[in-house]
This record gives sequence, C-alpha cells and structure tokens, in this order.
Amino acid sequence: MEIMSQRNRDTFVQEIFASIATDIDFLSSFFSFGLDQRWRKKLVSLLELRGREKVLDVCTGTGKLAFLLSKKVGKEGSVSGVDFSKEMLGEAEKKLNSRSSNISFALSDAKDLNFSDNSFDAVTVAFGMRNITDTAAALREAYRVLKPGGRFCCLELTPPTDRRVKPLYTVYCFKVMPFIAMKVLKTDVPFNYLPRSIKSFPASDEFKRILETCGFSEVTVHSITFGIATIFEARKG
Ligand SMILES: C[S@@+](CC[C@H](N)C(=O)[O-])C[C@H]1O[C@@H](n2cnc3c(N)ncnc32)[C@H](O)[C@@H]1O
Repeated sequence: MEIMSQRNRDTFVQEIFASIATDIDFLSSFFSFGLDQRWRKKLVSLLELRGREKVLDVCTGTGKLAFLLSKKVGKEGSVSGVDFSKEMLGEAEKKLNSRSSNISFALSDAKDLNFSDNSFDAVTVAFGMRNITDTAAALREAYRVLKPGGRFCCLELTPPTDRRVKPLYTVYCFKVMPFIAMKVLKTDVPFNYLPRSIKSFPASDEFKRILETCGFSEVTVHSITFGIATIFEARKG
C-alpha cells in the first residue's frame, strides 16, 4: 500500500466502510461461513458478564457485537457502541428496538474517545483494530476509559497459524473473496483491502507487547479456528 498520511488513511478506511455498510453483515457471515458470529459469542463468553456492567464497543460498525453484549449486561447495564463511520452507525441504529433500550450508538474516533477516564467495566473491539491507523493511540484510549480492573477484549482476523491451511486461506482471501465481492459490490477495493489489512496487523506476540506497553496486564492470547481469528484479553491495572 502506498504511503499515506494518517488523515488520508482514516478517510480511505471511512470510504471503504461507507461503501459496504449496507452489505457488510451479509458478506461477513457469507465469507466466514457464519464463524464471525461464533467468534463474537466466544469473546462475549470470555468477558464473563454477570449483568449491570457498562461496556464500550469500539469500532462497533453495524452493532453485531454490541447487540450480543447488551443481552448479557441486562436492563441495568449499558452498551455504548462507537464508530467513526456514520454509514455503519446508520445500519446499527436501524436494528434498535424496544428490547435494546440499554444500547446507544455514537460517532467517535477510537483514537480520541469522547468518554471520561475510568468509565467502563469492559471495552471490546471486534474486527476493528486492524483498521485503526494508530494502534497504540487506540489502545491507550481504551485503557484510559476503562475502570481500574476493567477488561479489554479484542477479536481480530489473523493469518492462520496452521501451515496446512495457509495455501487455501491465501487463495480464498486474495482471489476468491475479491472476485465474489466484485460481483456483489461492483468494486474490488474493500475486499482487496481486507486481506492486506490482515497481513499488516502486528503478529500476536507483537500485539501482546503493544498492549503491555500501553499499560495492560494479564494479557492472554486465544488463537481460534486454525489461527484465522484471535482474541486478545487484557486487564487494566
Ligand atoms: C469490520 S467493521 C466492524 C465490525 C463490528 N465490530 C462487528 O463486530 O461486526 C470495522 C469498523 O471499524 C471502524 N473504524 C475503523 N477505524 C476507526 C476509528 N479510528 N475509529 C472508530 N471506528 C473505526 C470502521 O468504520 C468500521 O465500521
């Protein structure tokens, strides 16, 4: 990818998600054979929510994780979903109904969250971290808004750790998905960007180190489904 300024990269990412906002729910479950939702549920189960918690879902997109979290925190808890794409948030807001009174969505950049320090029991990010142009800035913000002892959980697509899966995975991500997406979306930009963003995301050991550098402790790495997804769990303080 050519060298771009951070602002240009943010705009590039916003344009990508604006262009696929109405199709992303279908495409992500179609391309992952429904595994995306299973992985989100795994993240939610790792948080061991008991009800009443205040959770912030960063890069909430169309809110798929936020809605799962809202069921766990119950009526006395709350979920705030933030994203910097108004088109993605528009799709999330369409899903709100009387049973989701504990969820709210707002426009916010992960690198500059508009919440006070020590506000949340948990902060989550699903399939968002690799799109953020300054990983450490976003992690420092997640750390800042977490209450002491609060939990951070990040689900991300990662290159497979199982070497037998790699050749098939590479063809699927770099050839099959862009080809099918081109037919549906009439552009290959978003699904050419996807595998490249996975490839350029820090390796799990490196991401663990960045989390620790940003102040997190008890960092645990859960590699799932041949390593094509990874959940990073950490704690503030
Ligand atoms: C793959 S989508 C989100 C998926 C969603 N979390 C889910 O589980 O379905 C990635 C989202 O990250 C958002 N994003 C990327 N960079 C961001 C930033 N700096 N601040 C806020 N949102 C950002 C994009 O707008 C996009 O909606």
